[in-house]
Amino acid sequence: MFTGLFGPLALCIQAVFARNGNAMRAPIAPIPRIYNDGPVMSRNGTQLPPYSPIILSTPGEGNAEPFTGYLTNGTINGQIAQQQNGSTIVLEHRYYGLSNPVPNLSGKNLRYHTIHQAIEDLVYFANNVDLPQMNGAGLSPATAPWILIGGSYSGALTSWTMVNHPDVFWAGYASSAVVEAILDYWSYFEIIREFMPANCSADIAVVIAYVDEVFSSSDTLTHLDDVAGVRNNLWDWQSLQPETGPGAKFFESCDALEVKNGVNAPATGWGLENALSAWGSFWNSSYIDFLCGEEGVVDCLGTYNPNSTYFTSTALDNADRSWTWIICNEVGFLQEGPPPAGDLSAIVTRIVQPDYDIRQCAYMFSDVFASPADVPTAAGIANVNSAYKGWNISVDRLFFANGQRDPWRASTVSADGVDRPSTETQPIAIGNGFHTSDLLTANGRVDPTVLAVQNEALAYMKIWLAEWTPPSISPKREEPYSRKVNSSRFFKGIVV
Ligand SMILES: *[C@@H]1O[C@H](CO)[C@@H](O)[C@H](O)[C@H]1NC(C)=O
Ligand SMILES: *[C@@H]1O[C@H](CO)[C@@H](O)[C@H](O)[C@H]1NC(C)=O
Ligand SMILES: *[C@@H]1O[C@H](CO)[C@@H](O)[C@H](O)[C@H]1NC(C)=O
Ligand SMILES: *[C@@H]1O[C@H](CO)[C@@H](O)[C@H](O)[C@H]1NC(C)=O
Ligand SMILES: *[C@@H]1O[C@H](CO)[C@@H](O)[C@H](O)[C@H]1NC(C)=O
Ligand SMILES: *[C@@H]1O[C@H](CO)[C@@H](O)[C@H](O)[C@H]1NC(C)=O
Ligand SMILES: *[C@@H]1O[C@H](CO)[C@@H](O)[C@H](O)[C@H]1NC(C)=O
Ligand SMILES: *[C@@H]1O[C@H](CO)[C@@H](O)[C@H](O)[C@H]1NC(C)=O
Ligand SMILES: *[C@@H]1O[C@H](CO)[C@@H](O)[C@H](O)[C@H]1NC(C)=O
Repeated sequence: MFTGLFGPLALCIQAVFARNGNAMRAPIAPIPRIYNDGPVMSRNGTQLPPYSPIILSTPGEGNAEPFTGYLTNGTINGQIAQQQNGSTIVLEHRYYGLSNPVPNLSGKNLRYHTIHQAIEDLVYFANNVDLPQMNGAGLSPATAPWILIGGSYSGALTSWTMVNHPDVFWAGYASSAVVEAILDYWSYFEIIREFMPANCSADIAVVIAYVDEVFSSSDTLTHLDDVAGVRNNLWDWQSLQPETGPGAKFFESCDALEVKNGVNAPATGWGLENALSAWGSFWNSSYIDFLCGEEGVVDCLGTYNPNSTYFTSTALDNADRSWTWIICNEVGFLQEGPPPAGDLSAIVTRIVQPDYDIRQCAYMFSDVFASPADVPTAAGIANVNSAYKGWNISVDRLFFANGQRDPWRASTVSADGVDRPSTETQPIAIGNGFHTSDLLTANGRVDPTVLAVQNEALAYMKIWLAEWTPPSISPKREEPYSRKVNSSRFFKGIVV
């Protein structure tokens, strides 16, 4: 009965083979386009007085190659460099891209893939790098102001680094920084529900309510929770930006649900019957191809085969795998349905709860976790929040930038109910942007609230850099583990 109405969903339920379409979205910074006016004029290695800042950022959980736009004034990094006569650096994070101290990403080999080691990498780099410019070896935080910038996970890393090593980076900029690690991060979808078109959320909610009812009364179907695959339509929200043009994937699914014979549904949607068939045929006719390509939907969305290459391949430069390690061990951020007993209307099935993802941690890193019970997510989260202070962060000269429509906002200092005040030493600016919108210059051009966030940051940087004096004590030169084996790649630009 269910199959006929909503084929693709039913197929997901029977999934027994491989997958990856169900992998959770990492909170990653956006890749900027490089404009013709992109890599701004090079001063060819000269240093202008009095103190040109060095602006460091890591893209976080990804190969750094596509992120070299962060060397240019297409980003806030380059704008700060331009205003302050600084240099920009993009540093690849350990265990991503080609920056690996190990030959493969087996669980055992990821032992030193920790937030603490990543912090030590940034500190070690700043203290020891020999930059390819005049006096390049003499530009450590002891002699020049360093600014750490990050967005999303790397925004959190910016905050965590400044908590852990307050004397290294003179100033920081943390965009959409997911500072508080959270196990069951169902708020991710709640923020989307709040800001998406009302008719679309209403219709998705009736389908999900129906699905949950059918599934909870069924005892013949197995792997019900792989219906989690429909989270994909909602994850598409994360790639929206103020400058996103029409035709974004997210709105394609809403249009499929809400436009019937050329007419838009009212705010209450069209209701269950239309939603089931319209959503089903959208998946059938285009979305499955988009998501899964040649791979069958079962292989692409199923999560119950521990032998699928998604779980077993340990090849390097697999950001999903390296990030999953951090999810499983330190931050959680499991993007699930709302709590089972709540009365919120759900746009993601309540069947999907943390166990669904913790089970997959055990599949992926079976060489270190014998069963889901061995996966230390909750303990890791407690350690991270206690070590790096989460929402309670309080350091000097750290600028937080957030966006109202960012599904990650609930873990940032702009989370509803957290009420962190914005102060002169730790300002918090929020615009109407999405995830890390303020990092990209282009978003400020189309959204004045994002531009205001960027301008406020530039003003603070001007004040803070004018206050810089060389520190009285030199920061420690502690060597992180991977440095002994290999070093991270870095890309550099010099900006006037
Ligand atoms: C970026 O740099 C280019 C060339 O140096 C310049 O023309 C452009 O105005 C700059 N953009 C911004 C936003 O400052
Ligand atoms: C940079 O300066 C060096 C030394 O003065 C010179 O040899 C080189 O051609 C310059 N490069 C560029 C791109 O201007
Ligand atoms: C940047 O360099 C220009 C040109 O030398 C100079 O006029 C300006 O004062 C410098 N700005 C800062 C913040 O150092
Ligand atoms: C260090 O990384 C480079 C580039 O990925 C690689 O070619 C080299 O073999 C690595 N060295 C060690 C000791 O792992
Ligand atoms: C991964 O690398 C280790 C050495 O660090 C090696 O012993 C192991 O066999 C490799 N595993 C796989 C699955 O390639
Ligand atoms: C209803 O759906 C259409 C098509 O997706 C959308 O353009 C419109 O903004 C929605 N209206 C409301 C009130 O949600
Ligand atoms: C989608 O495709 C499946 C399998 O081909 C089919 O059984 C189902 O009826 C289709 N559903 C819709 C809504 O088109
Ligand atoms: C996975 O592979 C192992 C070893 O080859 C085998 O024992 C096990 O039955 C397989 N599991 C599944 C679900 O196919
Ligand atoms: C933040 O402070 C509150 C109130 O003191 C405390 O209950 C909470 O555990 C702290 N959170 C973290 C992550 O340190």
